[in-house]
Amino acid sequence: MVLLQLEGVTKSYMGQQVLRGVYLSISEREFVVVRGRSGAGKTTLMKIMALLLKPDGGRVIYKGINVWSVNNSLRECLRKTIAYIPQFLDLLPNLNVFDNIALPLIARRTKSAVIEERVNEIAVELGIKGFLHRYPNSLSGGERQRVAIARALASSPEILIADEPTAYLDDESSEELYKLINVIRSKRRVAIVIATTELSANIPGADNVYILERGVLRNIS
Ligand SMILES: Nc1ncnc2c1ncn2[C@@H]1O[C@H](COP(=O)(O)OP(=O)(O)O)[C@@H](O)[C@H]1O
Ligand SMILES: [Mg+2]
Repeated sequence: MVLLQLEGVTKSYMGQQVLRGVYLSISEREFVVVRGRSGAGKTTLMKIMALLLKPDGGRVIYKGINVWSVNNSLRECLRKTIAYIPQFLDLLPNLNVFDNIALPLIARRTKSAVIEERVNEIAVELGIKGFLHRYPNSLSGGERQRVAIARALASSPEILIADEPTAYLDDESSEELYKLINVIRSKRRVAIVIATTELSANIPGADNVYILERGVLRNIS
């Protein structure tokens, strides 16, 4: 079943067209990789998929709904089912790992007993149970990335979008991250989209690999 569709999406900044008509369809549980060099428009595209940025033209259809033609509150409801991990993660340095992961649940007024259970469950799943009480700055890049994924998964999203999750990881940590993505996929009903600049690397488990070049997306898998 198709979850999210982009139909001829365009986006310009100050007269410079970054996306020139992007078509993409993401199905339930699909693992999609978007490759492209720095400045190609990956972050712009990820934010449009996360319903955080409005395109200039074209349509974004999520669960059959034309996202930018409905009212704000409906769009907000739809947005809550998509988790977006920005390139710089945005973990809060003054909160420990537990609280960072709990944040989206607190925002949704989840009961504290449920939060406790949910955070512990995700921490086990992602292998970060050992540092729930540590602070983000004391973690390695790979560990921080796992915490950001845990936080994103806390609200059980239908789509998880990660902007260049391997940008600051060495090869070994990148490999571990891709393994983790495949573990997550085996356990959860979640579609995963990642952006990367790695043009040569083979990404295990990817269902479709696209390249973003000159403002258009091309399937290269
Ligand atoms: N808010 C913005 N204002 C003006 N230009 C922007 C803005 N965001 C991105 N751009 C420009 O759009 C192009 C694509 O940026 P981006 O989507 O961040 O690409 P990528 O993530 O692939 O590096 C770049 O040339 C960038 O400078
Ligand atoms: Mg980017």
